[in-house]
Amino acid sequence: MIKAIAHPNIALAKYWGKRNEELNLPAVGSVSITLDALKTETEIQFIENEYDIIEFNGKLPAEDEQKKLSKFIDKFRQISGIDKKVELITNNNFPTSAGLASSASGFAALSKASSKLFGLEFSDRELSVLARQGSGSAARSLFGGFVEWHKGTLEDGSDSFAEQIADKSSLPLSIIIAVTSKESKKISSRIGMHNSSLTSPFYKAFVDTSPNDILEIKNAILEKDFMKLADFSMKSTVKMHAVMMTSNPPLFYWNHKTYEIIELVQDLYNNGENVFFTIDAGPQVKIVTTEGNAPQILNELKQINQIDEIYVCNLGNGAEIIEETH
Ligand code: DP6
Repeated sequence: MIKAIAHPNIALAKYWGKRNEELNLPAVGSVSITLDALKTETEIQFIENEYDIIEFNGKLPAEDEQKKLSKFIDKFRQISGIDKKVELITNNNFPTSAGLASSASGFAALSKASSKLFGLEFSDRELSVLARQGSGSAARSLFGGFVEWHKGTLEDGSDSFAEQIADKSSLPLSIIIAVTSKESKKISSRIGMHNSSLTSPFYKAFVDTSPNDILEIKNAILEKDFMKLADFSMKSTVKMHAVMMTSNPPLFYWNHKTYEIIELVQDLYNNGENVFFTIDAGPQVKIVTTEGNAPQILNELKQINQIDEIYVCNLGNGAEIIEETH
C-alpha cells in the first residue's frame, strides 16, 4: 500500500483555456503557490478484482468520476505493463469542487502514489506531465512554494510541465481562504473554459497578455517585491473573471460576499497594506498577505458577516509519499 499527500495550489497568473483539449494542454502558462494546511491524502494498493474500487471522501464517487479516475490509472498500467486493478481511497480535508483546487491536489497525490505503486521512477517534472492530463492545475501541485506550469509548444505536450520557481522560504506568505459558499460549482472549470475560448470577446486579450503577467509575477517573486506580485496577480484574476463573465452563457462565479471581500481587500491594498485577493472558478476569496500579517487581516475580515468558513495557510510542500507498506 502506498499513501501520498498533496496540497492544493492557487494560481497567481491564471490558466483558463486549452490549446489541445485531448491532451489537456493549456492556452497559457501559469504561476501558482502551493498551500500547506489543505490536503488530499490518497492510498492505493493492488487488488485481485475485475475493476478498480474507488472511495472518495468515504463514498463511492459518481460513475463518470470513477471512469475518469480509472482511465487516469490506465496510463500507469500502460507505461508499467502491470495490468492489475487497484483499490483507491482518497480524502480531502476541505470542500470538494468548490473552487478550492481539489482536483489539483487530488490528481497530484494520485500521480505520486500511482507512480510508486507501479514501480515507475518518474521525476516530479515527468509526473507533472501525467498529472496535467488528469487536471491541468494538478501539474503545479507536484511542487511546493512558487511554481510555474509551462504552456509548451510541442504537439505531444511533453514540454508542458511544471517546475518550482522559488522555495516557500524565499518570500513567506500567508493565505486566508474565505469560503463564501460550500456548494459545489454548477459549471466545471473544464466546461467553463471551453465555452470561454469559443465565445468570450475578451478571451484573446487574456491569452495575449498572459506572457507579460507571467514574466512580471515571476520577477516579483524573485525580487521579493510583494506589491508588484499583488498588482499583477489581481490583474490576472480580474482578467480571467472578465473572460468568464463575458462568455456565452455567462459564468458568474462570484456572490455578494465575494464582492464585499474584494472591496475590503482593495481598500487595504490601496492603503499600502501587503495584501491582495485572488479568485478561481468559485465564489471563495483567497487573500494573500505576508507571513505574520494574517492575524491583522483576520481582524479586518470580522467586518464581514456570515463567511461560511475561514482557512489560514502558509506556503506548503509538493506532493510526497508518506507511507509505504508491503
Ligand atoms: C480557475 O485545472 O481545474 O483554477 O485542466 O480542465 O482540469 P482542467 O481545469 P482546472 O482549472 C483551473 C482553473 C483555475 C485557474 C488556475 O488554477 O490556474
